[in-house]
Amino acid sequence: MEPLLRVKQLTKRFPQVVANEGVSLDIYKGEIHCLLGENGAGKSTLAECLYGFYRPDSGQIYFKGKPVRLASPVDAINLGIGMVHQHFVLVPPLTVIENVVVGIQETGLILDLKQAEQRLTRICGTYGIHVDLHAKIWQLSVGEQQWVEILKALYVGSELLILDEPTAVLTPQETERFFSTLKQMSHEGLSILLITHKLNEVMQISDRVTVLRRGKLVATVQTSEVTKAELARMMVGREVIFTVHKTASSRQEPVLTVKDLRARGDKGQEVLQGVSFTLNRGEILGLAGISGNGQKELFEVLSGVRRAESGQVLLEDEDITNRSSNYVMVRGVGHVPEDRLHEGLIPDFSLSENLILGQQRSRLYRRGLFLNFEQIRKFASMCVSTFEIKTPSLSHPTKFLSGGNIQKIILAREFTQCPQCLLANQPTRGLDVGVIEYVHKRLLEKREEGIGILLASEDLDEIMDLSDRIAVIFKGQILGIFDDEEADIEKIGLLMAGVTDVTA
Ligand SMILES: Nc1ncnc2c1ncn2[C@@H]1O[C@H](COP(=O)(O)OP(=O)(O)O)[C@@H](O)[C@H]1O
Ligand SMILES: [Mg+2]
Repeated sequence: MEPLLRVKQLTKRFPQVVANEGVSLDIYKGEIHCLLGENGAGKSTLAECLYGFYRPDSGQIYFKGKPVRLASPVDAINLGIGMVHQHFVLVPPLTVIENVVVGIQETGLILDLKQAEQRLTRICGTYGIHVDLHAKIWQLSVGEQQWVEILKALYVGSELLILDEPTAVLTPQETERFFSTLKQMSHEGLSILLITHKLNEVMQISDRVTVLRRGKLVATVQTSEVTKAELARMMVGREVIFTVHKTASSRQEPVLTVKDLRARGDKGQEVLQGVSFTLNRGEILGLAGISGNGQKELFEVLSGVRRAESGQVLLEDEDITNRSSNYVMVRGVGHVPEDRLHEGLIPDFSLSENLILGQQRSRLYRRGLFLNFEQIRKFASMCVSTFEIKTPSLSHPTKFLSGGNIQKIILAREFTQCPQCLLANQPTRGLDVGVIEYVHKRLLEKREEGIGILLASEDLDEIMDLSDRIAVIFKGQILGIFDDEEADIEKIGLLMAGVTDVTA
């Protein structure tokens, strides 16, 4: 059988990096094909080449056996290739139908909303998609908005649908429904290229999987013929251990107590609406939730970079509400922020300087009035080797390092200066699997040492694996806190979507 889409020896270079190097790939009609790889492996770049957004430097793309040149997404769409990006382009005040129709710029097309509605209703029926076509975009959840993007692609007759990390914005239940609809779409003959870095998803949904590592094709295999461990090895290039070994936590001494905390966001909106919880010594308290529900602001208030409007933060018995970030840090609270480059460090500083940021006055790094460069160098090179930070030198300006390496600098620094508790917001996002494994190990070591850790993550598996208790945040409120044993993914997922009445 001839593939619907064939990619032969595709190479795409950026000034600093070869994002795709001689990648070949076939996608057949009606298959769900996963494109798997670590952060930076070149998945999105390949997808953008297939969608006509980037022009490959060399190589050839065939569609239905014919060589094609995709000068822009319009060419791709006309062929029948649709793509849903990680950031949606929808118009909030318009309805679903209006958004679909507005997106089409074919000349001479009359904006016949009735006709569009009929066509969309038919598409939804065929694939089992449930979206209120008359709802305005702003009324929809992020997951529902993603369906609107998919509808836009289906409306123009896509035969191949490229989805770039679509489950990042979904709760577990939404992901289940999403996958069953994708299955139905493939049964109806649609081809789907699903980009992901999550091994569980690949195993669950795909017929075949193509693995990329550092821009190069590792292999394409039948999903039924590989194990998760084998895929991980292909993705990372070495053995990866998934199981997290965790001993039961025994301590019950509160280290951080948060009472009825309220705060506003950057636009003045109420983002924290009375958050209360206690973090104990020697425990990891997981904060589950879809990002944008107040996590970022909560971490900022706790670490002293955002003002609380009311409420209280106690570190042991000391009220640290609205104390400066420096004070909070000196008192032994480490903070790994979500936005690394802007909040976590000073981009113009060198790697070593950022590693001791905030500690320049500490006895450790001083010799009399001067900085003890020997000590700093030792510490920095230890961090570089244990965290596998890829840098040309210790004095290299931080701004020239990749996101993953910047994250490692912050982790290395905060891990060494948090004697009381550690506030970690998305500490592993964007890191390579091997480094994630290392970070998990270090988090558990810190917990063993008796440090309280507040851990927010979009990766629910990570939360479930590491946490002693799990709190669910939704629209600036904690909707529930579960013990490790009673935490089931079903309940947590519902709360992540704001469903508190489980019988509903
Ligand atoms: N527009 C761009 N300009 C320069 N470099 C880029 C650009 N887009 C991606 N890259 C680089 O190409 C590599 C592959 O990136 P990407 O395709 O986004 O990976 P993935 O989607 O697998 O995470 C990375 O090293 C990234 O930094
Ligand atoms: Mg990507």
